[in-house]
Amino acid sequence: MTTPVPIRYMGTKRQLAQHVKRLAASAARKGPLADLFCGMGSVAAEHADGRHVITNDALAFTAVLARARFTGVLRGLAPSEVIEKLKPAFRAQARYLTAAYRAELATEAKVIDGTSAALLQHMGEVRHAANDSSFARRAAIARGKIDDAGGYQMACLYYAGGYYSQRQAIEIDAIRYSIAHTRGLKKYSDWLLAAWLSACSKVINSPGHTAQFLKPNSLAIASRIKSFWRRSVWEEFKLCLVDIEQVGKPAWRHENLVLVSDALTLLRGKRLAQAGVIYADPPYTKDQYSRFYHVYEALYEYSYPTVFGKGRSVAPEARFSTGFCLISQVEESFIQMFERVAALGAPLVLSYPTAGLLSDAGTSVETLAAGRMKIVKHESFAFDHSTMGGSKGKKTKLATENIYVCEPI
Ligand SMILES: C[S@@+](CC[C@H](N)C(=O)[O-])C[C@H]1O[C@@H](n2cnc3c(N)ncnc32)[C@H](O)[C@@H]1O
Repeated sequence: MTTPVPIRYMGTKRQLAQHVKRLAASAARKGPLADLFCGMGSVAAEHADGRHVITNDALAFTAVLARARFTGVLRGLAPSEVIEKLKPAFRAQARYLTAAYRAELATEAKVIDGTSAALLQHMGEVRHAANDSSFARRAAIARGKIDDAGGYQMACLYYAGGYYSQRQAIEIDAIRYSIAHTRGLKKYSDWLLAAWLSACSKVINSPGHTAQFLKPNSLAIASRIKSFWRRSVWEEFKLCLVDIEQVGKPAWRHENLVLVSDALTLLRGKRLAQAGVIYADPPYTKDQYSRFYHVYEALYEYSYPTVFGKGRSVAPEARFSTGFCLISQVEESFIQMFERVAALGAPLVLSYPTAGLLSDAGTSVETLAAGRMKIVKHESFAFDHSTMGGSKGKKTKLATENIYVCEPI
């Protein structure tokens, strides 16, 4: 089953999901499929109305997308009805922020109609929470005002003039405010927040991931930035409310579970004791996803974190990091994964490319599985990995993706 991917994502297994499903079916005992590194949930979506799923990821924003799609009773409102309900609060907050950021809006309007040199200069001079103490102070005050209009300006203080235009940042904050302050929509908050994040991802000025925003270093990029900055987040949000569909039937969704945890910690606990098969699609490069998707994580949390640098991101120590992305720890991370899955007595279906970080570390899946789990099947696929300008600096990279089916010994 193919449903739109809510956010463009590095390493998504959409093209491989049907093969993962087939191989998981061949291995599974009774019980749900637990996807340890679910990302955008392509493998869970493929299991609609089949085996139940437990999705897990270390990043919390992925979970709101998973809850909106893979859990929940039938929605009782159409997207157009939701929009009508949100409109008054959205408009009121947009008016409030338009007044608060009048000067910034006026400057930006001139820049968008001006030269690329003017845009470059503007983007270099924009004040935000990472480079200006008065903005950082305003962020600290806003953090304490989450019940009123002043508490809903995080995108304006953090991302305007970079990832988003000032006008878009106002819309982003106003939608978030309307979701929190419109009566009768609380039970739909996962759906609405998922659509909001998805809309933020459609208009973001970035190469796909959000480690940094694009700068107008050429005429082509300048015109791309201007055209992205002109797009309406509210209009995108309307489309995304339609796109964030519930997957499968209510009975299937009822039994699914969405978790946010480090995969190795999760394997150590009891929550996966009933899993029929474990699926693992760990990261395979040095790129920590928390760095590459920090904007969505921060927007979802909406807690006005302290941010630094050109990327306007939280400090590396404050972001989730995993040994699967560290050359010095990747081997030990795999060993722990094999040992803990084996201890659960469950089969493991593992996706990992031939040229992943493990091979850079001088080892392989086969070597590390030996003596811990038995590889009973191994299929390989030529696959176009989207790096989205990640560490290798190329858009796509031809890779051999492998799926291994491993059984406890
Ligand atoms: C290759 S992507 C998975 C893509 C996913 N299969 C899909 O189709 O969208 C790896 C995912 O693992 C998550 N991740 C990285 N380290 C993790 C860890 N130790 N525990 C849980 N999730 C982790 C990342 O946030 C990312 O979403």
